[in-house]
Amino acid sequence: MRRLHRIQNWYFTGAISSGDRSLLANYRCIVNVLKEFGRVPSEHIVDDDALAWAKRQKRLGLNVYAYDFKGLDSSIALVGEFSLPTSGGGAEVDYSVRSGRPTLLVHESTRHASWYITDWAAVPMPPPNLRVEQYSSLSALKRTVRAFCRKTLQEHPPLPGAYIVIEGGDGCGKTRQRELLNDYLCEKGHTTIVKREPGGTGRAEAIRNMLLNPDEKELMPPEAELFLFEAARAILRENEIKPALQRGDIFLSDRNYYSTDAYQGFGRQMGLHTIDVLNNVAMAGIKPDLSFIIDVDPRVALNRATIKNYKSNDRIEKEAMEFHERVRQGYLEVARREANAHIIPYVPGGIDEMQAKIRAITDKFFSENFK
Ligand code: TYD
Repeated sequence: MRRLHRIQNWYFTGAISSGDRSLLANYRCIVNVLKEFGRVPSEHIVDDDALAWAKRQKRLGLNVYAYDFKGLDSSIALVGEFSLPTSGGGAEVDYSVRSGRPTLLVHESTRHASWYITDWAAVPMPPPNLRVEQYSSLSALKRTVRAFCRKTLQEHPPLPGAYIVIEGGDGCGKTRQRELLNDYLCEKGHTTIVKREPGGTGRAEAIRNMLLNPDEKELMPPEAELFLFEAARAILRENEIKPALQRGDIFLSDRNYYSTDAYQGFGRQMGLHTIDVLNNVAMAGIKPDLSFIIDVDPRVALNRATIKNYKSNDRIEKEAMEFHERVRQGYLEVARREANAHIIPYVPGGIDEMQAKIRAITDKFFSENFK
């Protein structure tokens, strides 16, 4: 069976926060270390303070982004520096919590970072994936970054496989689309692992049953629902998703954490920020490489689902129509945010037409990312 080899499967996205005078020298030093590992950073991010400083100094002829970690997708995290009283390691903490990725914060001042970021009050500080190192010279910085890169590569080997997801509101026909896409990938000789969320392992399926059983009379508070989806997800990640991607297989999933954004975030109107963090923690920073969101008016979809199989409607499917309309808005928001998410408009009776679109996008994705 064909194994995938990503053209670029490990890249570095660095953020150097604060306007310290040695920003540029540090940046160069870090880039040099990455080159030793055969990597070149594709982008880097600087927070507002540093950005303002850089503009003032007119010294930073680099590709500078404002403080915005949305959509940031790197396999190794962040090397930063703080020295201004305002920064206090905030950018790095924010990044490490959001991304769930190994993060290195380097600083040369004797002051400790003030872990004062109210948004992350529930996260232990410093977060477990953030390593904080002090250094006194550029050569010390070099040693620190080198050790970090080595350790990170050992603990987080590249994931050559591809993670593809089919998403959409209840009754949109995503399961059928997933089956057809799987047929196509197998015909092309790929090894695929096909799973669903919630579920996909013995324990995760037990959680699924807890979550969706329509006969259960006990109350299910929204927080418990959220934690259970995340628990099932973490179990699936460790037992199935990660191993499949490490082997170079295609992990094809019916739903992923976009469902949590749409159902718990928009449907149940829970805090998007908290959901963002829990999603990243549950996935340990692994994100889908390619996803399809089937967009359908819930009035059409649920009618279809209800006619098809009225008795088996699960606890969440039974929610009011306004809930499902909010879920739809949630998916549209996910599609705006995620560069690799593609909206596939639902076509009544148009299974093949929808599948043709999915296959065309999949072909393009493989030709651009794998050899
Ligand atoms: P689904 O996988 O669509 O099963 P079926 O095809 O049998 O209907 O059902 C899962 C339900 O769980 C669905 O209503 C969406 C919901 N869900 C969430 O609310 N949050 C999540 O994070 C996930 C993965 C699913």
